[in-house]
Amino acid sequence: MSAHPSSGPLVDTFGRVATDLRVSVTDRCNLRCTYCMPAEGLPWMSKPEMLSDDEMVRLIGLFVQLGITQLRLTGGEPLLRRSLVDLVRRFSELPNAPRIALTTNGIGLDRLAQPLADAGLSRINVSLDTVSSERFLQLTRRDRFADVERGLKAATDAGLAPVKVNAVAMPGEDPADLLAWCLDRGYELRFIEQMPLDAQHEWSRATMLSRQEILDSLGARFSLSTVENRGSAPAETFYVNGGPHKVGVIASVTAPFCGACDRVRLTADGQVRNCLFARSENDLRGPMRDGASDEQLVDLIRLNMWGKARGHGIGTPDFVQPDRPMSAIGG
Ligand code: 5AD
Ligand code: SF4
Repeated sequence: MSAHPSSGPLVDTFGRVATDLRVSVTDRCNLRCTYCMPAEGLPWMSKPEMLSDDEMVRLIGLFVQLGITQLRLTGGEPLLRRSLVDLVRRFSELPNAPRIALTTNGIGLDRLAQPLADAGLSRINVSLDTVSSERFLQLTRRDRFADVERGLKAATDAGLAPVKVNAVAMPGEDPADLLAWCLDRGYELRFIEQMPLDAQHEWSRATMLSRQEILDSLGARFSLSTVENRGSAPAETFYVNGGPHKVGVIASVTAPFCGACDRVRLTADGQVRNCLFARSENDLRGPMRDGASDEQLVDLIRLNMWGKARGHGIGTPDFVQPDRPMSAIGG
């Protein structure tokens, strides 16, 4: 393979350019979604393993110089990082500051939505897979549905509209129930096909609802019409009952969007990953703590991107699930 470029945008060998950086600010979580974690949780990263705020701000500044325009903060559960509001403010004060989005399970958002909005957060996605509090308890092993409801309301009140809800489509859940609930409250809903990212490695095609099954269930209660101009967005969007409300479906497994991928990831312990499913990553934390220059760190980021595979290959015979679970990579 030829050497990676030393200037210009952050590209891979297939010509894809990374403009969207997803940063996991902690691997901890206060839920235990069955498709993500075992009941007892996972061995969390220790504080010294994690990037400090200063280290995170430095690395994100370098990504921004490399052309990142969209920053998404994830976890684990990002609201569990005590310094989150301060981090958002610092990211929003960077030269050429990117747009800052947050993916959260919504617990604690009732207190944090307004401070986050004031600090410069521009968009929010709340993860919610069911609107029944009993089912919520079964799926997440915690009785916190009411907290999420409050968090969603607070996000709207803080002016973070349109508030988006992300749902992993689960067997035993009728996607139309979730859509009806979101339409009533003005939240924009997107379904995601469940991917093999659970720590227990128990995923199978049988445990996921496919795009087609989701659309069939929605179609039984709503009329859906395609929104043109999908662009490179992973979500396929539909008007509900003629619009203006919309619903999205992300067919990450049955119709992957890897060809148009513009993402790169940074883990809470300072590893750069070119894909959720990457089999390897490049350590930025070690070199940074050993005194690496900005140029040396940028070179490692470029090197990582240059190794990005064409696609995730879920369903192919040689697919191997990544060692890190979703909670340690960032959604
Ligand atoms: N497949 C798809 N989405 C997942 N998420 C967590 N695990 C998976 C998985 N295996 C989602 C969460 C949240 C986001 C961070 O990723 O529900 O919406
Ligand atoms: Fe927590 Fe998200 Fe994993 Fe659920 S999917 S346990 S909310 S990290």
